[in-house]
Amino acid sequence: MRPLPDRCGGRAETELGYRWARHAWGQGYATEAARAVLEHGFRNLGLRRVVARIDPANGASLRVARKLGMRFEREVRLAGYTHPDHLYVTDRLHSDLTAAARSAAT
Ligand SMILES: CC(C)(COP(=O)(O)OP(=O)(O)OC[C@H]1O[C@@H](n2cnc3c(N)ncnc32)[C@H](O)[C@@H]1OP(=O)(O)O)[C@@H](O)C(=O)NCCC(=O)NCCS
Repeated sequence: MRPLPDRCGGRAETELGYRWARHAWGQGYATEAARAVLEHGFRNLGLRRVVARIDPANGASLRVARKLGMRFEREVRLAGYTHPDHLYVTDRLHSDLTAAARSAAT
């Protein structure tokens, strides 16, 4: 997680990203690790909103964002890119509600 370098849409944002070695894909690691990072950001760092920029052709990345409870907000076009990315967002309240729903389901 880091401050978004190019102030997407003119506002300061905190960006979540994930990248795993190929042999480790498909075992839930990205979702588990990103969930812990989000919880740390909201609970301990006082963040209110976190975004992820995702290539809409990247099915695994979209799926991870959705499993984290992130939701599509809008398209963003990055300097040097030929196609728009999708901006997924979550905020503290939404993250708390998602965690509550998850624990109610278990
Ligand atoms: C994206 C990435 C981090 C996911 O890591 P991971 O540890 O495999 O993720 P998880 O196992 O937590 O979850 C992956 C989910 O995507 C699903 N998935 C995998 N490939 C998919 C595809 N092509 N289309 C749709 N869903 C897909 C998996 O089935 C799983 O969902 P499920 O739990 O409902 O079955 C990993 O693929 C990666 O490092 N990719 C290269 C870097 C990258 O693209 N990073 C994101 C940049 S925006």
